[in-house]
Amino acid sequence: MVVVAILAAGRGTRMKSNLPKVLHSLGGRSLIERVIDSVKPLSPTRQMVIVGYQALEVKAAMQSIPDLEFVEQNMQLGTGHAIQQLLPHLEGYTDDLLVLYGDVPLLRTETLTNLLQTHARHQNAATILTAYLDNPKGYGRVFCNNDNIVQQIIEDRDCTPTQKQNNRINAGIYCFRWQDLAKVLPHLQANNSQKEYYLTDAVSLLEPVMAMDIEDYQEILGINDRLQLATAYEILQKRVKEKWMTAGVTLIDPASITIDDTVEIAPDVIIEPQTHLRGNTVIQTGSRIGPGSLIENSQIGENVTAQYSVVTDSIVQAGTRVGPYAHLRGHAEVGAGCRVGNFVELKNTKLGDHTNVAHLSYLGDTTAGNQVNIGAGTITANYDGVKKHPTNIGDRTKTGSNSVLVAPLTLGNDVYVAAGSTITEDVPDDCLVIARARQVTKPGWRKKTSESAKNADS
Ligand code: UD1
Ligand code: CA
Repeated sequence: MVVVAILAAGRGTRMKSNLPKVLHSLGGRSLIERVIDSVKPLSPTRQMVIVGYQALEVKAAMQSIPDLEFVEQNMQLGTGHAIQQLLPHLEGYTDDLLVLYGDVPLLRTETLTNLLQTHARHQNAATILTAYLDNPKGYGRVFCNNDNIVQQIIEDRDCTPTQKQNNRINAGIYCFRWQDLAKVLPHLQANNSQKEYYLTDAVSLLEPVMAMDIEDYQEILGINDRLQLATAYEILQKRVKEKWMTAGVTLIDPASITIDDTVEIAPDVIIEPQTHLRGNTVIQTGSRIGPGSLIENSQIGENVTAQYSVVTDSIVQAGTRVGPYAHLRGHAEVGAGCRVGNFVELKNTKLGDHTNVAHLSYLGDTTAGNQVNIGAGTITANYDGVKKHPTNIGDRTKTGSNSVLVAPLTLGNDVYVAAGSTITEDVPDDCLVIARARQVTKPGWRKKTSESAKNADS
């Protein structure tokens, strides 16, 4: 049984931001959401988030996450003081407390599992994650005897020059036997350079405390400023790309591609340069995405191509060609074997199978059937300035170039709309509809115009 505490009360001054630090986004999810996601598989009995600075904002942003308890730390007097706030909430609790920081977002669940297992196996009072860093500046240094038993943790700013030589650092991730920690928490002293109550001081009051070295030190990177945020993003991207390439996805020029870790990609997908895959996107096998595309929260079927296009919150079925330069958004659904091409925008629009919208069109709030051909420059006028209206287009219907379909409007099956028409009334099945002024051709026009110009001069 384990209770998780996530520290998120600090100011995060070095971010220089109005947004609380733990709410900054890292690859589509906030720092603290990432921490919460990493503990989810451990099925903690309780998850307590310690909030203080901008507590309202932090709580509001996490409202939709189930089973979180918020504990207020009204003054931020240090990490030890933060954990002291748990005392009234965990009275009588006898099992383990896993302490995480809201600004350390790259931890793997396996690492935490490892920590909990080591803790249990050795029956430690506390087990802490440690690492050897080439540049340990800013981190607390961990001093151990030969058996990885921790004697002391000294903060960087409190270290003597000799102590600073020790490059074994405290990652800030701990598992405590709660009943032992609860006993020593009230005895923490703030006699250090920051006049804070350090959680790390509890370590010298507990017995035994064991250090567990982490294999991949990148996991414990803490985010204190925007530079570290960017570094964390790089690490995350490297992890994600390696995972998909190993799983059979081709990335052409990986450095120019970004992929959120929420995206799913089937083997034999090819991702071309300058392409960005975000959110809950799924891409099926055989598809070729990019170059230059952005796909967000969308389902892409098998053997789809999407060049220089933006697809958000939409579905594209197998074998459809998207782009170049198409924009699908607002729950667009495109059937199989379609073409949605050059400079076409689809918003909240559903196309059947083998339907083409190949050039220069806007379809909004539209449903079109199978084998429809939307001619170049066809526009649905779906907005009257107050409300949006729907357009329905039957199977095999064809619109001529530069048609305007004024919604609400229904065109039946097998309708032909003449080029340049502005259609304002419903059209039944199997009709040709023409709605434009008849052409007038006036011969001898040049002579006439030059004579009237002469008359005007005199
Ligand atoms: C802490 C550790 C240090 C470790 C480092 C790892 C202590 C005293 N030091 O230092 O040994 O190497 O983390 O990243 O614990 N917080 C609160 N309330 C507070 C103070 C902090 O919730 O009163 C939260 C912060 O929001 C942050 C976390 O605790 O998420 C760490 O606090 P921070 O002040 O950044 O500690 P470090 O100096 O990084
Ligand atoms: Ca920190």
